Amino acid sequence: MASVSVALILLFTVSEIIRAAQNHQLKSTISLGSSLSPSGQHSWNSSSGLFQFGFYKQGSGYSLGIWLVTSPNITVVWTANRDEQPMPSNATLALTMDGKLILKTEESKEKPIADLVFDEPASFASMLDSGNFVLYSNRSGIIWESFSTPTDTILGGQSLENGEHLLSSVTETNSSTGRFCLNMQEDGNIVLYPRNMLNKALEAYWANGTDIQSEYPYSVKLNLSPNGVLQLLSGNKTQKILFRSSYSLKSMNETVIYRTTLDSDGILRLYSHHFKNDGNSTVGIEWSALEKQCVVKGFCGLNSYCSTSTNISTKGDCHCFRGFNFINPKMKFLGCYRNFSDEEGCKRKMPAEFYNITSLKITWLGGLPYAKLSVSKKDCSKSCLNDCYFGAAFYSDGACSKHKFPLMFATKDQYASAILFIKWSSGQANLSTHRIAPPIGNDKVNDKRKLLTVLAGCLGSITFLCFLIAISSLLVYKHRKLQGNLNLGTTQEFILQSFSYSELETATNGFQEELGRGHFGAVYKGAICEGKKIVAVKRLENPVEEGERKFQAEMAAVRQTHHKNLVRLLGFCVQSSKKLLVYEFMSKGSLADLLFNLETRPLWRDRVRIALDVARGLLYLHDECEVQIIHCDIKLRNILIDDSWRAKISDFGLAKLLMPNQTGIVAGVRGSRGYMAPEWQNSGLITVKSDVYSFGVVLLEIICCRSNFEVNVSTADEVLLSTWVYNCFVAGEFNKLVEEEVDKITLERMVKTGLLCIQDEPNLRPSMKNVILMLEGTMEIPILAFPPLSHVNSLSH
Ligand SMILES: *[C@@H]1O[C@H](CO)[C@@H](O)[C@H](O)[C@H]1NC(C)=O
Ligand SMILES: *[C@@H]1O[C@H](CO)[C@@H](O)[C@H](O)[C@H]1NC(C)=O
Ligand SMILES: *[C@@H]1O[C@H](CO)[C@@H](O)[C@H](O)[C@H]1NC(C)=O
Ligand SMILES: *[C@@H]1O[C@H](CO)[C@@H](O)[C@H](O)[C@H]1NC(C)=O
Ligand SMILES: *[C@@H]1O[C@H](CO)[C@@H](O)[C@H](O)[C@H]1NC(C)=O
Ligand SMILES: *[C@@H]1O[C@H](CO)[C@@H](O)[C@H](O)[C@H]1NC(C)=O
Ligand SMILES: *[C@@H]1O[C@H](CO)[C@@H](O)[C@H](O)[C@H]1NC(C)=O
Ligand SMILES: *[C@@H]1O[C@H](CO)[C@@H](O)[C@H](O)[C@H]1NC(C)=O
Ligand SMILES: *[C@@H]1O[C@H](CO)[C@@H](O)[C@H](O)[C@H]1NC(C)=O
Ligand SMILES: *[C@@H]1O[C@H](CO)[C@@H](O)[C@H](O)[C@H]1NC(C)=O
Ligand SMILES: *[C@@H]1O[C@H](CO)[C@@H](O)[C@H](O)[C@H]1NC(C)=O
Ligand SMILES: *[C@@H]1O[C@H](CO)[C@@H](O)[C@H](O)[C@H]1NC(C)=O
Repeated sequence: MASVSVALILLFTVSEIIRAAQNHQLKSTISLGSSLSPSGQHSWNSSSGLFQFGFYKQGSGYSLGIWLVTSPNITVVWTANRDEQPMPSNATLALTMDGKLILKTEESKEKPIADLVFDEPASFASMLDSGNFVLYSNRSGIIWESFSTPTDTILGGQSLENGEHLLSSVTETNSSTGRFCLNMQEDGNIVLYPRNMLNKALEAYWANGTDIQSEYPYSVKLNLSPNGVLQLLSGNKTQKILFRSSYSLKSMNETVIYRTTLDSDGILRLYSHHFKNDGNSTVGIEWSALEKQCVVKGFCGLNSYCSTSTNISTKGDCHCFRGFNFINPKMKFLGCYRNFSDEEGCKRKMPAEFYNITSLKITWLGGLPYAKLSVSKKDCSKSCLNDCYFGAAFYSDGACSKHKFPLMFATKDQYASAILFIKWSSGQANLSTHRIAPPIGNDKVNDKRKLLTVLAGCLGSITFLCFLIAISSLLVYKHRKLQGNLNLGTTQEFILQSFSYSELETATNGFQEELGRGHFGAVYKGAICEGKKIVAVKRLENPVEEGERKFQAEMAAVRQTHHKNLVRLLGFCVQSSKKLLVYEFMSKGSLADLLFNLETRPLWRDRVRIALDVARGLLYLHDECEVQIIHCDIKLRNILIDDSWRAKISDFGLAKLLMPNQTGIVAGVRGSRGYMAPEWQNSGLITVKSDVYSFGVVLLEIICCRSNFEVNVSTADEVLLSTWVYNCFVAGEFNKLVEEEVDKITLERMVKTGLLCIQDEPNLRPSMKNVILMLEGTMEIPILAFPPLSHVNSLSH
């Protein structure tokens, strides 16, 4: 009976399911006013009983999700808010009488589980036999479904849409976000890579996809059909079949459920679950993207290597290099940390007495070397020992490549022939004869461990930069080598460094010179690298719980970003409650100061370029970095100018990290007056178009060299920059807007683009991509629909 209904329902088309649901013919209809709690009724069943939605046990608490009723353990296929702490047993989930799905973990804390886009209330819910939990409204059918926000699994009948990704879980029993990503790229390729890597192309370890130029180039999606065909679809046309399962849906008295999961080891697998009529279930692997775990980049963490015990085994084992210890021996994949400092020996220029070199045969080492020498094996080892800057050397085929810690993606199998030299210290030898300056205190080690985990991804992203600077650093390296004094040099600025509080206190001379003050605290001028490099040190204030969250948001946002038009993070300090960030120093200061001062005002030509710089930085945040970032506080003060007059966007502090499509209502984020889009002010709705609005205001300010709100003007019309610009635009009096003689075509183009960006209706505003095309003159600018009126509202606060 159960299997019959599964088969029937899986064969239904979507519209039939809706109709059936609307007619209340599904047995699992959940009506308004129903609720769940771990301590009471903890789940809602699908009519087949194979899927359940509700609270499942995780760690010492409960998570909310959907699972397959397998034995002995359930198989979780979806989790709500997967990165939040497990909930206590008095949590409740309610489908309220007013049609909302609300989770309550504390008396005063309610959280919607389903983001209902149009705020349309649900009429009823259903746990479908496909594993999809769906909210319906009487009026418009499905208004929310769990299938639209996959976590690490897609089920039969579900698709991973173009531009979306699956993120693996931490472990089989912890469904928080883990280390790997499967991305359904816009170009129709599907790619596996470790998360938090800057350069996906470089770090990808598996890819397969279409290279067809389909009619709908941006519509290719990964789909698992109910009968186990894993395929790439464009529209509803099959473009490529990755795997076709052989079981039919209902055979030999059993029901088969398929799922494709990005497992916590980074391998994408297609599973089949067989439910026998007698209630027994079994599971089998139908297909996996990769066989050997060691092929997965990042399977083992930093400073460790992956090895397989036999040449047929697919299982990988992680081992620390000599001189390193596991960050957590129970979770070896977190990688290893070095338990000695390499400063002392270098400071005293006696590396040989402080360190030993160990060699290990390995197969492969990831990351790009900083330098490559053509020397003998012996000299390679020697140069590794004597070199304070590089901790390891990889010798293969007569070439000696120097690597800096952390080492990543190393593997070892029975064919290993390359040699890895690593500098290490027992921490004891010869130390009696040299007094060691302050030993590493306990909390410093702890801090380091934390940092290593935090930075595991971040440091990895540096590889890409290594490539860029490989050539120049080689030159620097050779040069310094000749002088016999390789100090921390040019390359240092490319490494995200961790500082102690006292180092930064010294660097800023006791936080003396304040450069400015932002939402999060003051920024001070400082100097690192023995005073050779000027930096800006931001000291985060209110370092209580709130501060911690901000800090993590900022770190998370910044560590993955790298673009020439974004202010670069060089290092940071987390020491108990103290949190500081070290940024590159922008010598010319903020654009606001430059623009509003007659003496420093950039020329028209430079202003045009600066506007493009800002647009490019913003485009990167919106479209090009791994996680979409909405800046939320684009304004002149947050645009800084460097020595070469390049503009860079700063202050990602407010940035709300958003996974694609998860824009929405945000409480507690405040923008700056005059730059906030009307829909944000009125209803708190933030999207990328809010940034486009702010950019429009900035653009007009750059054009006219005045603030968006100015009281000292000749006529009332001119108080609001947007109104004034619009009036001049309508009258065709562009020349009024700028004082100097400028190219009229460029000016018109910039003015029109600016006005388009500040349209009240978010949908009328262009994307940043189109903004750039318009500014560059390669895209025609649409005729403006409405005058910008929103500023009137913005001043009423
Ligand atoms: C849900 O299914 C389980 C078995 O999987 C069963 O024990 C339970 O009674 C069912 N609950 C409801 C409300 O049907
Ligand atoms: C799951 O892993 C995350 C990240 O490693 C951790 O913060 C969380 O406490 C873990 N949850 C459980 C239940 O162990
Ligand atoms: C089921 O879960 C328990 C506890 O999490 C675990 O010890 C056991 O190995 C699991 N069994 C299977 C077959 O995965
Ligand atoms: C659950 O219990 C905790 C502590 O006993 C309490 O703080 C919390 O408000 C309770 N939650 C609900 C929803 O009652
Ligand atoms: C939806 O329709 C059903 C039957 O037509 C009705 O009983 C129910 O009250 C409606 N629900 C809402 C929220 O309008
Ligand atoms: C699917 O294909 C049918 C024809 O086979 C077509 O009529 C229908 O519009 C297509 N649906 C979508 C969503 O493309
Ligand atoms: C991609 O998938 C096709 C079809 O399954 C297969 O033949 C091919 O070997 C795959 N390529 C890679 C790189 O896995
Ligand atoms: C299914 O089960 C019934 C009795 O439980 C049995 O008579 C029949 O042969 C089975 N069919 C298959 C294909 O195994
Ligand atoms: C499940 O199958 C095993 C053997 O494969 C059998 O011993 C057991 O009794 C079955 N359980 C049920 C509930 O039928
Ligand atoms: C690897 O496996 C092959 C057979 O698959 C065997 O002949 C060979 O001896 C094995 N090599 C090692 C080093 O175990
Ligand atoms: C570092 O760890 C190694 C073992 O991996 C140990 O022999 C050594 O004594 C440790 N050194 C220090 C300074 O703790
Ligand atoms: C280097 O290795 C030798 C021999 O194993 C050992 O005696 C010495 O203590 C080591 N030196 C350091 C600095 O670890």
